[in-house]
Amino acid sequence: MAETLFHCDDALWHRFATLCRARDETPGATSPLLPLNDGRQMPQLGFGLWQVPAATTAATTATALRLGYRLVDGAAAYRNEEGQGAGLRASGLPRDEVFVTTKIWNSDQGFDKALRAAEASLARLGLDHVDLLLIHWPCPSRDLYTDTWRALIRLRDEGRARSIGVSNFNEPHLQRIIGETGVVPAVNQIEINPRLQQPALRAFHRAHGIVTQSWTPLGGGHSFAAPPVIAAAARTGRSPAQVILRWHIQIGASVIPRSTREAGLAENLNLFDFTLTPGEMAAIATLDEASRTGPDPAAFEMQ
Ligand SMILES: NC(=O)c1ccc[n+]([C@@H]2O[C@H](COP(=O)([O-])OP(=O)(O)OC[C@H]3O[C@@H](n4cnc5c(N)ncnc54)[C@H](OP(=O)(O)O)[C@@H]3O)[C@@H](O)[C@H]2O)c1
Repeated sequence: MAETLFHCDDALWHRFATLCRARDETPGATSPLLPLNDGRQMPQLGFGLWQVPAATTAATTATALRLGYRLVDGAAAYRNEEGQGAGLRASGLPRDEVFVTTKIWNSDQGFDKALRAAEASLARLGLDHVDLLLIHWPCPSRDLYTDTWRALIRLRDEGRARSIGVSNFNEPHLQRIIGETGVVPAVNQIEINPRLQQPALRAFHRAHGIVTQSWTPLGGGHSFAAPPVIAAAARTGRSPAQVILRWHIQIGASVIPRSTREAGLAENLNLFDFTLTPGEMAAIATLDEASRTGPDPAAFEMQ
């Protein structure tokens, strides 16, 4: 097992070096760019807006963009898309320098409903397109996610979403939408943290050119005191949160931590001037317990 992980890490180091070069070739960028399977690119590091109060979302978004983030992950369900759009405008950044994500909520699944929900999100954001539109959860027992995926394909073809993807899809859900439409999602945003590393699903993503994006990347702080994290933090002089976020970067995932504190946003952005060794990556890999902080996508149906 350890040997396999070590070889895997060698390959990832090579990939990481490639990503660093991409960043160095992009003046002003603070994150490497990940290539998407539709020919576009996405910053590897962004910030998330779940549970950010609507009243402060514009300020949080503008602060994050001022600090150097260029990807903002939102969702209709977070009920703060107005602030997400207002923060983007307040930043003064050109629209094409910021990668904006939103998501179709469960109660809006189905072809026509998803089309209307996307238009409503764009209106709340005050934008004519998003960079990435995701299906938030598959809700398999409702059996609408393939129709919803067809709506996202339409929205991409109409330019309302530059890239399209999914969230919380397990392998059978991915197999089905790919099989029925021939369109492979650019991204699958899933829960990943040291206690839930999802190696099999990440391998499926790699085999199909799908970018893995990690939600709840800090895992509720459950691994902050884990010996491999503490040891890497001590060696690098970084915080446990930075070590864990750096681990996400080095496994090749896109990562979208949330902080409502400016100091937290700044700390989480500061990941690109240190590296974890293959041994440290292998030690963190041993923390996987396949244990979720969030719901099980095979069963989650909240409307
Ligand atoms: N697709 C989905 O179903 C789904 C589900 C959940 C989340 N997401 C997305 O993923 C994003 C991130 O996940 P998340 O918000 O659940 O959790 P997270 O980013 O893993 O953790 C956020 C928590 O960690 C704290 N924190 C942030 N930076 C820290 C640091 N450097 N040191 C110590 N504590 C720190 C934050 O508190 P402070 O604010 O006080 O810093 C907050 O309590 C969300 O905002 C959302 O965009 C998607």
